[in-house]
Formats: sequence, structure tokens, C-alpha cells
Amino acid sequence: MKNSTKKRFGALMLAGCFGAMGCLAGCGEANSSVTNGGFETGTLKGWEAHGDAFTKDGVSYELYDKYGNYYNQQGDFFFDGEASADPSATGYLLSEPFVLGGNGLVGFLIGAGKNTQHCYVALVDEKNKEELAVRANDEFDEANMANSLHRVILDGSGHIGEKVRIKIVDNDEGSDGYNYINADDFVVGYEGAEETSAALYKANKYIERYSVGVRQDKRHSYHVMPQIGWMNDPNGFSYYNGKIHLFYQHNPYAASWGPMHWGHVTSEDMVKWEYQPVALAPDMPYDDGSGCFSGSAIERDGALWLLYTGVEKSGAQQQCLAYSEDGVNFIKIGANPVISTAEVGAGLSTVDFRDPYVYEKDGTYYCIIGTRKGGNGNLALYKSSTLRSWSYVGTMLNSSDPQGENYYALNGVYECPAFAEIGGQQILICSPQNLEQQGNLFQNLHSVVYMVGTVDYQTGKFSYESMREIDGGFDFYAAQTMKLPDGRTVMTAWMQMWDRTLPTQSDGWTGAMILPRELTVKDGKLYQAPVREIEKYRKDQADLDELSLNGEEKDVASFAGDTSEISFTLHVGTAQRAGVKLFKGMFNETLLYYDAASGTVVLDRSRSGALITGAEQNAATRCVAVQPDQDGNITFRIFLDNTSMEVFINGGEATMTANIYAGAADEGVAFYSEGGSAQVRSARKYTIEVN
Ligand code: FRU
Repeated sequence: MKNSTKKRFGALMLAGCFGAMGCLAGCGEANSSVTNGGFETGTLKGWEAHGDAFTKDGVSYELYDKYGNYYNQQGDFFFDGEASADPSATGYLLSEPFVLGGNGLVGFLIGAGKNTQHCYVALVDEKNKEELAVRANDEFDEANMANSLHRVILDGSGHIGEKVRIKIVDNDEGSDGYNYINADDFVVGYEGAEETSAALYKANKYIERYSVGVRQDKRHSYHVMPQIGWMNDPNGFSYYNGKIHLFYQHNPYAASWGPMHWGHVTSEDMVKWEYQPVALAPDMPYDDGSGCFSGSAIERDGALWLLYTGVEKSGAQQQCLAYSEDGVNFIKIGANPVISTAEVGAGLSTVDFRDPYVYEKDGTYYCIIGTRKGGNGNLALYKSSTLRSWSYVGTMLNSSDPQGENYYALNGVYECPAFAEIGGQQILICSPQNLEQQGNLFQNLHSVVYMVGTVDYQTGKFSYESMREIDGGFDFYAAQTMKLPDGRTVMTAWMQMWDRTLPTQSDGWTGAMILPRELTVKDGKLYQAPVREIEKYRKDQADLDELSLNGEEKDVASFAGDTSEISFTLHVGTAQRAGVKLFKGMFNETLLYYDAASGTVVLDRSRSGALITGAEQNAATRCVAVQPDQDGNITFRIFLDNTSMEVFINGGEATMTANIYAGAADEGVAFYSEGGSAQVRSARKYTIEVN
């Protein structure tokens, strides 16, 4: 304590000395910076107010506006036009004169100022007060944190060495909202870049500033999550410049769905991820409604291209293109949208027309779009040679045209399509909304299905024998695939489901992705395995050779943990039910067992911990049909990650994914049988440690 007081005192002394030296050197000469240019004195010192709009009440240190949006000031104080005076008040604020030095650019932060003709900042000539350069809030967007400040530049490079002043102007007499101007942090000789997108700048600043406040106790250690706020679908899962890129539907400002941005992470092994700046934000007329919806990515001519759905204020959904040459900064092309509402195929919806999945085949680009045709779920196929202009090929899939042994949706959109060729077989994936439950299948409100079949590139039609569900658990949606350079096809998905209660929401975040899975096809069926790179992170192996169960429950202390991989073979024996209890504590446990009567593996989270309820009738259990092999064995491989579990059954023939919110101490693992005997064989546990 003593020490830190001393340090602080030392720092103040130093600041005092420099202040004095500055005066010694510069007294009598004009400033080369804007006096009190960041309002950090907490007053209007150095500024001259003319008219009524600029009063000392405007010098504010508030962090949030009345809507809860943060101002993003630099330092403590900024000028808040709304706090200053009545919105209809007018006037201007004039800085002390200074000599324009350096590159002649003045960087500053601007916010509000809806009327860009009347609210602006000018660089004025000291002598005749002529306005030499002017900047308004060109990106004013009422829906998008309109009061928040973002960085712009006043270009005075033609006036270097001249004596000038800053003039902040509010000539807006209106009072219909944002009829004032916010400003802060005037830096003369500013060398940073101009922010090309206020929405992007605000999002990244917000994340940088507030993610430290996110509660950590329910977070995963090897699954992708948002730093703060909301995440849904994976987007643009791709390989570019030696890294795996994964983007995601993201609302940084709240742990609930909102204006959609594209969050971005990169990885070298799909286990350890690095956050990148937000890649896309709603900042264009074609995407500043609900934002930048889902889409995909592809490399072309050395750049990474993102094809996404822009949702404009009218609700129209159109496909748009952005690219990056460094894999970090993305630019939306000038000719967006590249598939506009005018170009939808006959009978297709223009307000449900989204989630383009792009791929290349024999030198042509194709893109699959999720939509409706009449009342039916529909996938539409488009093609292009440049990615910049597209022509409609035809309907790929429509729920009024069931094929083979098929289960089909009646109403919903077929969301988030994906397409992969695996071992010469063509796999079409999509997420039909509101797919009706069929026995054990489609127990969630919305489902993810795949079909193995053939595309007819003349008509667009995809012919297939059967439509199957990809994952039989609770939390799996919007799966997307990509090809790695080594030929593996890898799939990711949102590890959550719409219309559920979300226990992490009050912690400041929600949503995660599954551990990416390698896909293979055997006998017309998809098999899933966790990416093999996860094995690098195994620690502390524990083995259990054979455990006989006879109607009892056996705790295995060496298997305890909540961030681990557990594998075993279950010999189902004569038991009615046999399996494993996970996340087990004094009051909670999660059950995973084989149920002989129904021939299914059941995942039961009714006593897991924090309750998760959804729009579905059955909130408690999910099951998948599983056939023990001829010796009566079923294999399990389970990945726990603090608040999630992913189960791979019989070599990935079936999978079950779920979020589990147990207590911090609920780490026990026990095997059990009921109504007969069973054996657990070759059981092994590793701790998974990623840091
Ligand atoms: C699927 C989805 C997509 C859409 C996105 C919006 O989860 O509804 O169809 O692009 O979410 O966030």
C-alpha cells in the first residue's frame, strides 16, 4: 500500500515537471496541439463557447448513454452534446489557436450529429475563421450506438504550419433525436488510419474494453466462444494463409441475439484459437438492418472472400461479398449485393433468402442458398465464374419433393446449407427449421440433416436416398464444413439451439462451437471423429481394465474431472440400462446409458445442474438408435469441457452434443447398471489441457 502511494506520487511529480518545462519552452508561442483537446480537465478550459449548444454540462465522464450503449471516450472525459443543452440549441465551440504541425491531419472522435449538414467539426483559419476542412458523422446510424464515438480525420495537410483552430458546430435546431454532436480526443499530426467503419470500430473497442468483465466460471477451455456477448452460427470456416479461419454470428453488445457482426478466430490446429478483430459489422445500406447474416468463405487469387447475407432495414436478404488480403481486415466490395432481391429465382422468398455456402467445382463457383419456395423449405443453387455476379441454376432441394427414405420439413427455411465431397461421395447438409419429430429423430426444435447423393449441375437438383440427422444431442445447429490441405473434411457447428434458456447469459456471454469433427463416409453413412489434433493436449492418462457391474454404481476416482476425454467399451450384457454418470456431485449428475428396451443410447440432463428448458416438450432427454456389435459391445468416446459434453458412439456412427451446467465441484465419474449385469472394458481417461 505504502509503495503504491509512493509510485503514484512519483508519477504526479514527473507530470508536474514536464508541465513546467513545457511552459518554459513554449510560453508566448502558439500551441502545436489542441489545448484540452480531450476535455480531460473536466471543464471547457481552452474552448470558447458561442451560442447556447455548448455548455460546461456537456463535459461528461459517463460511460453509457440512456440506452445502455457506451460512449467510447478516450480517457475519462469527452464532450456530450446531449448533456450540454437542449437538443434544439445551436452554437459552436472554438479551440485555442494552434500551429498545424506534423502531417497536417487532426484525428478525433465523433458521435451523434444526425444532421451532417448542421453538425460537424471544422478546421478554421485563425485570421479570417474560414473553414479549411470539415468532417461530419458520415456514418451516423440511429440503430447502431448512435451516441458512441468513433475515430475520423480532418485533413488539413494543405495548411501545415498555419495557425488554425478547431470549431465544433451544432446548427441543428431540431429535436427529433441526435440533434447535437459528441466529440473527443483531438490529436494534431494524427498518424493512425481513419476508421473505415464506425460500426466495426465500435464493436472492436467494446470487446477490448468490456470482455474483462465477463464471468469465467462456465467458460470452456477448448471450444470457441465469443469474448463477450452472443454467438450463433459458424461462418466462413476455411483455410487461408496457413491458418484455419472460423467466423461466427456475433452480437458483441449483449448476450442475446442482436445486430449481426462476424466475429473471427484463427487456429493452427482447431483446438487452440486466437481471437481476431471483428471482421464484418452492419455498416452498409444493404446490411444495416439486422446485420451481416451467415455465410461462407473461399480463397481466390490469394485473397479470402466472404459471401454473406446482408439484411437491410426493409428485411430484404441479399448476398454480399467482402474480401481480405491479410486474413484480418475485410473490405466489402463496392458492387454489393452480388445476388440482390431482383435476382432471386422464380417463386423464391426475398425475406428468407440467406446463408450462402460457396464452393468451387471444375473451375466454376457454386453457392447454395437457404430459402423458401411457396410454403416449403428450399435450397437454391447459383453459379458464377468470378464470385461477383451469379446466375440462378435451380432448386436443389424442396420439402414438397421428398425422395427415397425421407423425412421432410413442411414450413421452415432450410437454413445454413453446406456441401462436401468426401471420398468421391457428395454430401449436402442443411438445418431445416421446425422439422417435425419422427420417433427418435429431430427431437430438437430445429434440426441438422445430411443427405448423400448427386448434384445435377444442369438443373441444380440434388438426388439422394435418405435424409439423416447429424447429431442426436441437445445442442447442435448450423453445421458447416471445409476441406483442409491434407484432404480431411472438417465440420463445425453451433453448440446450442434456438429458443432455450441460457444459463451463461447473466455472465455476459453465450454460445460456443463444437470441437471440429473429421467426417468420413462409410456405406452411405456419415461418421464423425473429433479432430485428431485434440490428442496433442492429452495429459494424465488413467486406465481401467475391466469393471463388472451388477445393478450397482461404481465411482472411478481416477476418472474424475470436467475437462477430459473418457473412452470405454460397454458390454451391454443383461442390463436393462447401463452406462456412465458424468459431472457427478452431491446433487447433480448427467446420465449417458444404453437402454436395452428401446435399443437407444440416452443422454439425460434432467438432474445435470442449472436447468435448461426449451420450446420442445422434452427438455430432459435425447436418444439415438444404437446397435451393439455382434459381441454385444458399444464404444464411447466422450469429451467434457467444463460446461459441455460431446459423445462419439461406435466410432462416430452416432454423436450426441450437449451443454451441461453442473456445480463447480461436480466432477465425479461413475459407471452403473440397472436391471442386470454389464461390463465396462478398456476404459481410459485423459485430462485435456489447453492453455
Ligand atoms: C441460423 C440463422 C441463419 C441466419 C443467422 C442469423 O441459426 O437463423 O439462417 O443467417 O442465424 O443470425
